[in-house]
Amino acid sequence: MSPPVPAPVAARERLRIAIQKSGRLGEPSRALLKSCGLEWRESRDRLFCYGESAPIDLLLVRDDDIPGLLADGVCDLGIVGRNVLAEQSAELSLSGRPQVAQEIRALGFGGCRLDIAVPEDWDWQGPGDLAGRRIATSYPQLVRQWLAAQGIEADVVFLSGSVEIAPRLGQADLICDLVSSGATLAANQLKPVQTLLHSESVLAGPVPPFTDMRAGLLQQLLRRMDGALRIKDSRLLMFQADRGQVDALLKLLPDAERPTLLQVDGEDSLALQAICHGAMTWQRLEDLRQAGARSLMVLPVERTLA
Ligand code: PRP
Ligand code: ZN
Repeated sequence: MSPPVPAPVAARERLRIAIQKSGRLGEPSRALLKSCGLEWRESRDRLFCYGESAPIDLLLVRDDDIPGLLADGVCDLGIVGRNVLAEQSAELSLSGRPQVAQEIRALGFGGCRLDIAVPEDWDWQGPGDLAGRRIATSYPQLVRQWLAAQGIEADVVFLSGSVEIAPRLGQADLICDLVSSGATLAANQLKPVQTLLHSESVLAGPVPPFTDMRAGLLQQLLRRMDGALRIKDSRLLMFQADRGQVDALLKLLPDAERPTLLQVDGEDSLALQAICHGAMTWQRLEDLRQAGARSLMVLPVERTLA
């Protein structure tokens, strides 16, 4: 028996956000919402979490269920892969029904591609190779929509999981599945040949948009989310360098926001500090050191307010 879910109400004064209960998107989704100042009381069944710091509650569900929960009004917002949202959207448009959910923000994590992949020894010439073939996938509507756009007729075999072993089991000739690192394909002697969709986590909401209190709550959440997303990879970079090397060093920092240069007393050297928005990898620090930076320091950025 599944635990009870609070019933939907037409006009709510609280926002209910569905996120993935377990799996790749669950933790980063929670982390993003936490960085927006949201906190929850965990319930015993861990399916529904009551928002304590704001009237925003969490519903922990299977990612594939999120578009349906949005459509039914059981939740107001969802954090879900664009691929899942696009599959629902393709299903609705292929059957001539109106859209019920839309992407509000791309969230920058959970990046992957929906790719056609074929056995490694296939001498791939292009999409025309797919005519009359059997394609195993968990995204049948997206694949059908794409095939139709290419003018290709092929059989789509729906599998809810373990798609990558379908060719070896003889269930299909090739697959269309999510690819992130590519390790799953390689382990199954498959190679990606065609991308149908670039995906990442998105914040999804209903069509049409809210007209009650939830509209204001969403605007506030988006302001905080935009701030949190802006500084996610940001670090405060500090170092010293000789005056003559500063121009070359700044060229290595195209993502630096308004660098501040300070005179170091009694020496011909300057201290630089800047907020950098790209990942500050060890390799970047090595490059800066090579170009004359000394006493390099990278510090986290807790919060910014424009
Ligand atoms: C996806 C996909 C592949 C795997 C690809 O499954 O179906 O199996 O990830 O990732 P890789 O390129 O890094 O190897 P996921 O683990 O998300 O599970 P699910 O399909 O059951 O949701
Ligand atoms: Zn899934």
